[in-house]
Amino acid sequence: MERGKGGEDFIQNITRRYPVIFTYGAIKLIEEKGLEEATIENIVSNCIENGIKIISEKDIERRIHTKRIFQSIKTFTPKAKELAENLQIELSLDDKNITKPSDSIENNIKALRDRYRKIYSILRKRIPRGLYEISDLKKIEDGKTGYIVGMVLTIVKGKRILVEDPTDNCDIIISERILNRGNREKLKFVTKDAVLGFQILKKWGKVFYKDVIFPEFEEPPNEGKDEEVAVLLTSDLHVGSKYFNRKKFEILIEWLKGRRGREELAGKVKYIIIAGDLVDGIGIYPSQRFELSITDLHRQYQNVAEILSAIPDYISIIIIPGNHDATYREIPQPPIFKEFREVFDGLPIKFLSNPAIVRIFGKRFLIEHGEVLESVSNNLENVSHNEPARLMLHFLRLRNFAPISEGRIMVNIQPNDLFTILAVPNVFHMGHIHVYGYEKYRNVHIINSGTWQEMTPYQERLGLQPTPGIFGVFDFTKGRIHNLSIGEVS
Ligand SMILES: [Fe+2]
Repeated sequence: MERGKGGEDFIQNITRRYPVIFTYGAIKLIEEKGLEEATIENIVSNCIENGIKIISEKDIERRIHTKRIFQSIKTFTPKAKELAENLQIELSLDDKNITKPSDSIENNIKALRDRYRKIYSILRKRIPRGLYEISDLKKIEDGKTGYIVGMVLTIVKGKRILVEDPTDNCDIIISERILNRGNREKLKFVTKDAVLGFQILKKWGKVFYKDVIFPEFEEPPNEGKDEEVAVLLTSDLHVGSKYFNRKKFEILIEWLKGRRGREELAGKVKYIIIAGDLVDGIGIYPSQRFELSITDLHRQYQNVAEILSAIPDYISIIIIPGNHDATYREIPQPPIFKEFREVFDGLPIKFLSNPAIVRIFGKRFLIEHGEVLESVSNNLENVSHNEPARLMLHFLRLRNFAPISEGRIMVNIQPNDLFTILAVPNVFHMGHIHVYGYEKYRNVHIINSGTWQEMTPYQERLGLQPTPGIFGVFDFTKGRIHNLSIGEVS
């Protein structure tokens, strides 16, 4: 995309993005001196920091030779600018390959069977012998142990677990003695709908719990190259909400341009992944209209496009939708509708589905907006809603991030279970909760990328404490995620 190279074009761009106006004399001076957009932007942000909103020629002259303003421009040579794109899309569904909900009952059965089959094949490798189908449990002699792989139907805490496989179902009784043996912690991670392995003991014709086997992956993935490249991970801008903090987001863009410290890392950013909720949308929750600054959905996206257009054009942006975006409400969600994407024409953006899997310079990123976290947080007693990365870790432990059935999350179930994690990602990225969180688990970086929206009255009523202005940067060279806040790069 071509950005203005002097004169009125870029002045208009700047005044759209920043709450300032230029005097006639200032515009004349910019033209006479042939000042570039980057220089003016630096001057503008310095003026804003000093409370100046009407910029005169004197304001420009005073700052034109300021070392701090120009030093960063002269020395900032982003490595990412020299790199060619390296992106493969492994999973992104459009409307054509999402099955209609009218087939959902049949799809439901197919999806559950598919999930069972996929996770069974993982667990089977971890259970070398003594694996039985539930209908064959009668073959186990009294007093002997065996294994089954079952989907959890019901849990009566501390008492029993009802599981099912394609042949039958059975009640697994949990005895007090087993709980005393330290099994209590492990059992906290047994959640409804999970496909798990169970070691059982046959006694008095009944089935007793001995142990649980999770379909966890064992080998950490070590794929891709350690390039001088980085990926910025963020989500939940909520543009259009009165509480979207545009100032903070613009500081992020300033940072990407090498004007806010940690320039070496900023210069490595080649991709930005936004895991949904670009806009606040319309009518998403009760009385939302009182919390909107832009009440037209098209204009909300127009605003996003204006903001994103300030990002350097060598950085590609990957966007998946969230529950506030303009696409179908049920998961999987196809990309944001075409009519809302048009305002982004010319910008280096790829719109993908929710969920999506991409490989960037060989590293695999599994991206999902994160509404599914709500269902698991209600079913996992030892992890709170405010610890989204720990909830995500649970999904990795189960090798599955499907929302728990009977919840309020809308799912358009696909015959091919999309929620089972077959290929282990290097980075597992969600948003939605508005609380930044990071965990590392068997070399997988788990990130919930927070938000750019300050606390809304609705969130206050729910008791949710958001963390706006924190973002993650996956640094390929260091093989780690830097958790950065706007405060640190200001
Ligand atoms: Fe969301």
